[in-house]
Amino acid sequence: MAITYRAESKTFYLCGKGLTYAFFVNPVGNLSHLYCGAPIGQDDLSYLRAKGRGSFAPTVPGIDSPELSYHYFLPELGFYGTGDYREPAVLVENAGGDRLSNLLYVSHEILPQKPLINGMPSLSGGETLVVHLKDGFSNFGADLYYTVYDDASVIARRAVYRNGADTPVRLRRAYSFSFGLPGQNYDVMTLYGSWACERNIEQIPLHHGVVSVDSKRLTSSATLNPFMGLIEKGSTETHGNVWGVSLVYSSSFMLKAEGTDVGETLLTGGINEFDFSWKLNAGEAFETPEVVIAYSNEGIGGMSRAYHDVYRNHLIDRRHVRSPRPVVINNWEATYFDFDTDKLKAIADAVEGTGIDTLVLDDGWFGKRDNDKSGLGDWVVNTDKLKGGLTEIINHVHAKGMKFGLWFEPEMVSEDSDLFRSHPDYAIGVPGRARCYSRHQYMLDLTRPDVRDYIVNAVNSVLAENSIDYVKWDYNRNVTDIYSVGLDADRQSEFAHRYALGLYDICERIVHGNPNVFFEGCSGGGARFDPAMLFYFPQIWTSDDTDAEERTKIQYGTSIVYPLSTMSCHVSAVPNHQVKRMTALETRGHIAHLGATGYELDPTLFTEEEKSLVCTQVEEFKRQESLVQNGDLYRIDSPFEGNFFSEMIVSKDKTEALLVVYRRLAVPNAESKRIRLAGLDPEKTYRIEEMNITVKGSTLMNVPMPIKYRSMDFYSAVYHIIEV
Ligand code: DGJ
Repeated sequence: MAITYRAESKTFYLCGKGLTYAFFVNPVGNLSHLYCGAPIGQDDLSYLRAKGRGSFAPTVPGIDSPELSYHYFLPELGFYGTGDYREPAVLVENAGGDRLSNLLYVSHEILPQKPLINGMPSLSGGETLVVHLKDGFSNFGADLYYTVYDDASVIARRAVYRNGADTPVRLRRAYSFSFGLPGQNYDVMTLYGSWACERNIEQIPLHHGVVSVDSKRLTSSATLNPFMGLIEKGSTETHGNVWGVSLVYSSSFMLKAEGTDVGETLLTGGINEFDFSWKLNAGEAFETPEVVIAYSNEGIGGMSRAYHDVYRNHLIDRRHVRSPRPVVINNWEATYFDFDTDKLKAIADAVEGTGIDTLVLDDGWFGKRDNDKSGLGDWVVNTDKLKGGLTEIINHVHAKGMKFGLWFEPEMVSEDSDLFRSHPDYAIGVPGRARCYSRHQYMLDLTRPDVRDYIVNAVNSVLAENSIDYVKWDYNRNVTDIYSVGLDADRQSEFAHRYALGLYDICERIVHGNPNVFFEGCSGGGARFDPAMLFYFPQIWTSDDTDAEERTKIQYGTSIVYPLSTMSCHVSAVPNHQVKRMTALETRGHIAHLGATGYELDPTLFTEEEKSLVCTQVEEFKRQESLVQNGDLYRIDSPFEGNFFSEMIVSKDKTEALLVVYRRLAVPNAESKRIRLAGLDPEKTYRIEEMNITVKGSTLMNVPMPIKYRSMDFYSAVYHIIEV
């Protein structure tokens, strides 16, 4: 059994692949965390919560015994006002204005399958425990959901808050979880960044007080990804205890690691409490987003593989997650806004025979849109640019056996657009108050059902009237002027979460409403790269920085949580448009093919030699695509730490692997560089074509293999490792 409850010790044990998670109903009736880590026996662990230091600590409500202080317990869902001074998970303002709660165990049930969250993306499958809690005084309650998997070392968690009273209450904080780790001997890993520089890795020591990552931008953002790693000191990419929390959410979020005064570590998080409150009427429930807690004793790499497994197996659309992806030619960096039907036809003609199978027409095909100052919201084809409308270019592309993709930015409106002229109130903002621009545009108010209907009808009409196979869904600014004319004054602080719900609603109706269209996510590059978006978009444009050198870091950082197959990666022109760097076409191919791949350059400018190399590259990509989609990732050299980047992808059955190596700068008379391979079966014998060797997996994983780097900057090479 994956989930068991031992009545004698009132302890719950959740046993998944490679982990045990345990908590109990403590002597006062609250849920207290006991353990999250490598598999253990189902012993009575209540001794872990023995009396410690606690002078002057408040007692639990109504019992004047210092033996029963919250100091001795790590909460499964911390609450406020009754003696626990650590970060609460829930703060509820009761009808009388007090903010006290004391959530006590009532009952529990074990479900064979996890129920999906209504209106929000969440993982599927997995045996699920639901624990019902109720405040000791009022009728406010919470249900805690825990799901365990036999194919990934993770626990999925969420909380549902219920107002069982007959008057409204106000949630001032509504996190998804609390749990803890013993001691404070951890580094906190975060993924930070900005436009064109997403998901850099930072590791800082945990300290007393709170280390947090958050977003106040109404999107998960490029600034800090909704992820936090807890790396036990001394752990590395390959060894040691590592935990992760990854939030399945796309709006303003908060994740906290708190070094508490009794020397433990408390983890909490969910919807950002900043500028948040939620009026919960009598009888209503509030769903929180899901958090995915991963554990590995195989270091950071093991944690990443746990996330890759669970997101591939239980989050991303089954129809696409393992199917061959379109290999695209995207016109953005080839033409920007300056294209017409003939130019697009020439691009499609130029890639004929290369294996590239989808032309994606990016920004600028609609309304009045010759630059980024106008047209957003007017999803009507611009026939001045596209003579013959979309039909002519689509027919041209289809006649070649290729597919056709189209760009949208559904959540936005330009001031200079018919939509804004007729419905200025659709844009987020306070009436009468000047709004902030960002990329010259405003955001549409997705909290309003009529605005959502407009968007869904506009996009779905284009998809219904044209034979479109692929959509790139972009989102190019962050929110300002948070206010909706559709919400009462006492609900304005619900805006950020209501935006998320509105976004999921339009995704549901557009993405799931068009099952024959493949959807790619995008946000000015990778500024909304989060698990909730992966529920709708099997792949996301990873960054607007397409330079191969930069991409080694961006893709390495992204892979800490997200599978390679979710990263959309294109080969672009040189000098690179973002950094002006020259890199070899081979290198650009090797790096861009570590994901869902494509090309984003003007192929009409290809030399014969380049075109022939592109043909070979696409053929090679097709050969490795199944590994990229299904394999286990082993990161070997981090581009954040030195001159090298190297990664291996190993098939689940360990019969096949790919090694990609890269050296940033050439070094004269360089010292030899050897790589110890990883993830292979020590007993199997492998052939490496490029080395012309046939040796045991144990040899490859123990005797570092010499790598020859050609004497040039940004050199890369690929090795195929096949069982013989
Ligand atoms: C930002 C995206 O990341 C780019 O790929 C491109 O689609 C532009 N927007 C278009 O405006």
